[in-house]
Amino acid sequence: MNTEDVRNIVVLTGAGVSAESGLATFRGPDGLWEGHRVEDVCTPHAFRRDPALVHSFYDARRAKLGTVAPNTAHEALARLDAEWPGGLLLVTQNVDDLHERAGSRRLLHMHGELTRGWCLGCGQRFGWAGPMGEDASCPSCGKAGRVRPDIVWFGEMPYGMEKIDEALQRCDLFVSIGTSGAVYPAAGFVQTARYCGASTLEINLEPSLGSTMFNETRIGRAGELVPEWVDEVLQSAHSSPISR
Ligand code: OAD
Repeated sequence: MNTEDVRNIVVLTGAGVSAESGLATFRGPDGLWEGHRVEDVCTPHAFRRDPALVHSFYDARRAKLGTVAPNTAHEALARLDAEWPGGLLLVTQNVDDLHERAGSRRLLHMHGELTRGWCLGCGQRFGWAGPMGEDASCPSCGKAGRVRPDIVWFGEMPYGMEKIDEALQRCDLFVSIGTSGAVYPAAGFVQTARYCGASTLEINLEPSLGSTMFNETRIGRAGELVPEWVDEVLQSAHSSPISR
């Protein structure tokens, strides 16, 4: 892939980018996500039906964040953020905080964040550490029992769609890393980017569901292939620095 004419880049990441840090991906071979069916824990309906189950599921995932660290793929993407002179937007579907802990700044969490809460009483969103549980009090209005994880569940609108769409329309290169391509709208970003004239690259352990839509697919571990790709793209920026 010729990266010499690239100015604006959009990178999309999924669970595969955090797999080598020790966080489980969603679609394991048994179709379960850490022992749960997705619809039992990842929908507003599930939260209304059994808030204790949903809270304990996300509390466990939040606690797990303290036991893991960014891997070489997160670190390489943070280096890209620091050194890429053109436009860049890193869109992650992940609710972990490994991209920001690695140092990424031009970052958008389209499916929300484990480290944030949302009060259904007053509508405020805020940072959250530790367990949340059913009786959590809102730091803004003080009411207990109305706080939920600030995670986008199935049937809810992902965050930042306007900004993402704008970046996709402007980008010259779209790169998808560690995502199965099973969940829309993220699975459709490659089509928007291509339609608007961008080159497209997939980096994944196996071909994703949308693999044929990419100009190029690199199969392997993100921890190995992402640093290689970042080196490549930064090299091209350093060798032809004008006009970015
Ligand atoms: P998935 O679990 O569906 O897919 C993870 C992908 O990463 C798979 O294609 C794996 O082959 C690949 N993979 C695993 N290890 C890898 C590695 N070391 N290097 C590179 N690739 C690797 O996860 P997502 O596509 O992120 O949404 O799932 C999308 C959304 O579905 C999630 O954000 C979540 C879920 O339901 C919400 O919670 C709203």
